[in-house]
Amino acid sequence: MYKINDNYQKLPGSYLFSTIAKKVAAYAETNPDKKLIRLGIGDVTQPLTEPVIRALHGAVDEMADGATFHGYAPDLGYSFLREKIAKCDFEERGCNISADEIFVSDGAKCDSGNIQELFAADNRIAVCDPVYPVYVDSNVMAGRAGSYDPATGFWSNVIYMPCTEANGFVADLPAERPDLIYLCFPNNPTGAAITKDRLQTWVDYANQNGCVIIYDAAYEAYISEPDIPHSIYECEGAEACAIEIRSFSKNAGFTGVRLGYTVVPKALKCGDVSLRDMWARRHGTKYNGAPYIVQKAGEACYSEEGRASVRGLVNYYMENARTIYEGLKGMGYTVYGGVNSPYIWLKTIDGMSSWDFFDYLLERAGVVGTPGSGFGPAGEGYFRLTAFGTKDNSKAALERIARI
Ligand code: MLT
Repeated sequence: MYKINDNYQKLPGSYLFSTIAKKVAAYAETNPDKKLIRLGIGDVTQPLTEPVIRALHGAVDEMADGATFHGYAPDLGYSFLREKIAKCDFEERGCNISADEIFVSDGAKCDSGNIQELFAADNRIAVCDPVYPVYVDSNVMAGRAGSYDPATGFWSNVIYMPCTEANGFVADLPAERPDLIYLCFPNNPTGAAITKDRLQTWVDYANQNGCVIIYDAAYEAYISEPDIPHSIYECEGAEACAIEIRSFSKNAGFTGVRLGYTVVPKALKCGDVSLRDMWARRHGTKYNGAPYIVQKAGEACYSEEGRASVRGLVNYYMENARTIYEGLKGMGYTVYGGVNSPYIWLKTIDGMSSWDFFDYLLERAGVVGTPGSGFGPAGEGYFRLTAFGTKDNSKAALERIARI
């Protein structure tokens, strides 16, 4: 009889956003008259911008003509896109990243789940608590997390770095030495940002202790304050210790289009083994690339017009973030995030648990959010709202919450 990967059996429940979707669907079925406002999963609501739509149409026309048709994409992605990324996302910010260190993919979620394959099964990971669940769950599937304690919500072999009000939701260096460190800034779920000085201490720590930082910068477009790095490669020495993951989902609205990329610098080596070459080998073997049409749409985000249009989308959502942040504050809630991030992280009221608060908002206001405890034990007593709704819905959600 064949054997399954037992590690899957260790995973408690379903993926956080699947659990929420099921709960909300059940509620909607028994309450068909209630119009729900969904500010749970960070899914965008605004249409693709004009330059992106034009590029998509143009690429479809190319695919319809034998003379301009494209089959398989190059392993790393088309150079027309990788060159633009290297220039606009890195060179312009003073980062020393070249196009052949950039791997185009169908999104940051897949890359952040897959990247752990480069590392040995007995490596120890360190994650922030609360944390985007993909980092932990993908390591559980790979057998790296140990066993789960339902009483505490901790995995025995994972090093947790609490992110609390006391440290401004930016983790302190871990007490134990990990091999892999997952960082996400601006942070999902707390919305916290990290200063360049503080990120430099992480880079120095990783270089001194032989760790790799997996840096998820999917929300960098939302940075509005100075001295907040957009890329970890703004820090000195980061090419030797960090992998960075980026997304087109949250800035250009590609959640349904699918495009992202991962940077694995050539300087990142374990002894004389290049992680960049390993990731290239993996890409070549397991992946046939994001579609040509989609990569053309990605390229369109980097023209002058494209960049302005992406900025317009980000501004739209940041206006929602302000509405939600200030509205909740005005009602007496303790609120974080929302300034360099599309996520608003609030404390539940009256000592309610995160899931009780989820039910409370759903039943009393018809507003769907995400319970903080779903992101890890330190998220208990907190709740996340996203600014990715429409302007009208963001305002209406606030009015409903105020009326409770
Ligand atoms: C979230 O809501 O945390 C994100 O949308 C999840 C994701 O990007 O995969």
